Amino acid sequence: MASAAVTFLVYKAARFILSDPFERVDPSIPPSPSANNFSGAALQLTESFQMAPLIRWSVQFPIYKVHFFKVRRYVVISDPELIKELVNNRDLDAKSDDLEELTTLTGVNGIGTTHGPQWKETHRVLAPLFNYANLEHHLFPGVVQNASNLVEEISSRFAVNGSGGRAPLQSVDIDKILVDTTYSIGSGALFGLKLGDALYAEIKSSMHALINLLNESSMRPLTAANPLYRFKVSRLRREFRGYIAALINIKRAKLETEMPSTAARMDLMESMIRAKDPETGASLDDENIIDQSATFFFGGYNTTARTLAWVVHLVSQHPTVETKLLEEIDRVLGERDVPSTVDLSQLTYLNMVVKETLRLYCPAPVYVRRALRDTKLGGYDIPEGMNVMVSILGAHYSASNFSDPSQFIPERWQEGFEKVHSYAFIPFAKGERSCLGQRYAMMQMKTVLCCIYKRLIFRPDNWSSVGVGQDLIVFPKFGIHVVPKIRELNPTACS
Ligand code: HEM
Repeated sequence: MASAAVTFLVYKAARFILSDPFERVDPSIPPSPSANNFSGAALQLTESFQMAPLIRWSVQFPIYKVHFFKVRRYVVISDPELIKELVNNRDLDAKSDDLEELTTLTGVNGIGTTHGPQWKETHRVLAPLFNYANLEHHLFPGVVQNASNLVEEISSRFAVNGSGGRAPLQSVDIDKILVDTTYSIGSGALFGLKLGDALYAEIKSSMHALINLLNESSMRPLTAANPLYRFKVSRLRREFRGYIAALINIKRAKLETEMPSTAARMDLMESMIRAKDPETGASLDDENIIDQSATFFFGGYNTTARTLAWVVHLVSQHPTVETKLLEEIDRVLGERDVPSTVDLSQLTYLNMVVKETLRLYCPAPVYVRRALRDTKLGGYDIPEGMNVMVSILGAHYSASNFSDPSQFIPERWQEGFEKVHSYAFIPFAKGERSCLGQRYAMMQMKTVLCCIYKRLIFRPDNWSSVGVGQDLIVFPKFGIHVVPKIRELNPTACS
């Protein structure tokens, strides 16, 4: 009996090992440095930015393989030609199995986690909502309105009565402020939620609680196996979905009383309710709209807030960049405090500053695809089921792709400065599965920065530390501490 059990276990273990795609990866792909066969590179992930070693290896090796106790296993690529090949290889079209675990955990099956025909159908309906005309007509006015409210709020926090509008020499954590306040821009522009609406606060607090729980398990897979943890997640996700369902009901009731008109401005949720598949004419049902809305809440909020905080940090450290940026904003905006879409297209230096920040501190350091069947990449064998990780930061920090890659040089994006491979700068990924919200994100970030720098400048707080931390995204571990000053140019702005 005992020997039968042992034989069975050996058989199961052998099957696991033989079917493990990691064992069938092309042997000529080098392994990560100092990895051992049992734990792989797991014991090397000791930094607060856990992925840092993976990024450093990918700066060194254009392709390598790595595993963590064989539970997670990847071929990691950072070479732009390999990234281009991956984007065009339909056999590498699926999202990773880690993401599938996240989908099961959150119960959110939005456009970011599906693939194949289900993804295509949703993409046909959602992609037009983010085209330039729709952004300009429907979403931009909400972004401007909410961005200028945000700057009012930030400025008023720093204003000192009776001191000529000058801010006190007090350091603030601008990362925390931006994370707090950027929610109001996204939820206002995309979902029509206003501070004071009951659902504004309810969605915010349940989303934060859910994100905090997901962050807990993002780098510690065993956490997700804990039944208490799973119970908490499922309670919160029911609550979160309930709030979004309530918002859909409010929007549907509003839309039923309004005549459809091309001139009327709609937020993203209203547009999703009205949208039809251009091929089949089908609309999205409520469950689908909840999934997509949750995807936009999760994917579109911390990413932009954190990038804005890194911009403030980098600009505060580089006075010549600050001077050029302020000069451009003042010249393009003149007396106005908020930009138009035409202004945004003329703010070319601001665009370079944001791009350079995304190169150095991109919120998503990697993204992952899974092989749907046995395939090849760069001539190497990639077996079915294997995850291929694209090291975004590896490509961004490689000296083969950028001169002085660790330096903040917005001018590198000027025409003629250096030739950048079109797959070497990929903060929003590439190809048809790239970020659906990238135009919106750039528009939102540039608008907020324009409004902020019209009123405020920031000096570095030399006694505070800056570090990189990581959960679902990369973020400033100790916040971004800066000393805000109301700009002399507009001394009455905060009175
Ligand atoms: C700085 C801001 C942002 C960055 C750096 C960023 C980055 C990315 C990246 C790298 C991906 C690919 C992920 C993967 O394939 O696993 C992605 C996908 C996506 N992003 Fe963003 N994102 C940002 C902001 C936004 C915003 C504001 C929205 C929505 C309002 C958004 C919506 C999406 C969606 C829906 C997808 C999935 C697309 C698909 O699978 O077809 N993102 N984003």
